[in-house]
Amino acid sequence: MSIAVETQLSSTEDLKRVVGYKAVDDYVHSGMVVGLGTGSTAYYAIERLGQKLQEGSLCDVVGIPTSTKTENQAKSLHIPLVTLDTHPVVDVAIDGADEVDKYLNLVKGRGGSLFREKMIEAEARKLVVIVDESKLVEGLGMTGAVPVEVTPFCWKHTLRRLLGVECLAECNVSATIRREKGNIYVTDNNNYIVDLFLDRPIPDIFLAARQISEIVGVVEHGIFLNMANLCIVSGKEGTRVIE
Ligand code: 5RP
Repeated sequence: MSIAVETQLSSTEDLKRVVGYKAVDDYVHSGMVVGLGTGSTAYYAIERLGQKLQEGSLCDVVGIPTSTKTENQAKSLHIPLVTLDTHPVVDVAIDGADEVDKYLNLVKGRGGSLFREKMIEAEARKLVVIVDESKLVEGLGMTGAVPVEVTPFCWKHTLRRLLGVECLAECNVSATIRREKGNIYVTDNNNYIVDLFLDRPIPDIFLAARQISEIVGVVEHGIFLNMANLCIVSGKEGTRVIE
């Protein structure tokens, strides 16, 4: 019996749920404007927020969703939603990440929502990142794609320009247009995503972010620098907070 419980508590879903719930329990207070992240970990923060509003332990909270998927989940839980147009200051944003380094710089967007995430989280007084420990890395860019949202207009040209980013050359950069069920993946903003793959961590992440942003045709990239204030990390031993 105890073995079954232990196994259950260390499942991937449990690791996501525990950080999602903790982020809401510890950092969301009544009256706040909350940035609602996207992904399978942020899902649990939104679930928790919905529960607390429903039971009345939180009130007067409004959310700003970072994707249509999150918007749909929040609506199904009756979380009142607003936008940056009417609520330009976000008290706290809660979101997952694909990679987190020791300075709390992030790679995000493997779920496809990086632009809205960055726009909303850039306005957050506090960005709380929620991950399991598999997301912690020594250097960014190693465990999977670095996503870049690009305009559909001449995307092949933009992809070629991304392959030419000088400071990525030593990482043997390769690039693919993201597809879903055989078709090019289209973001909530009707753009495409180019996924960059590297064979080693990006040596100068600030330079890389700048050089990628400078390419005309790039809408936004998934490198989030100096944005996160803290990171709640779950592992088999429990949760810890990195600040
Ligand atoms: C979506 C994102 C997500 O925050 C990121 O992909 C982490 O997702 P998950 O919690 O499902 O691992 O950036 O675009």
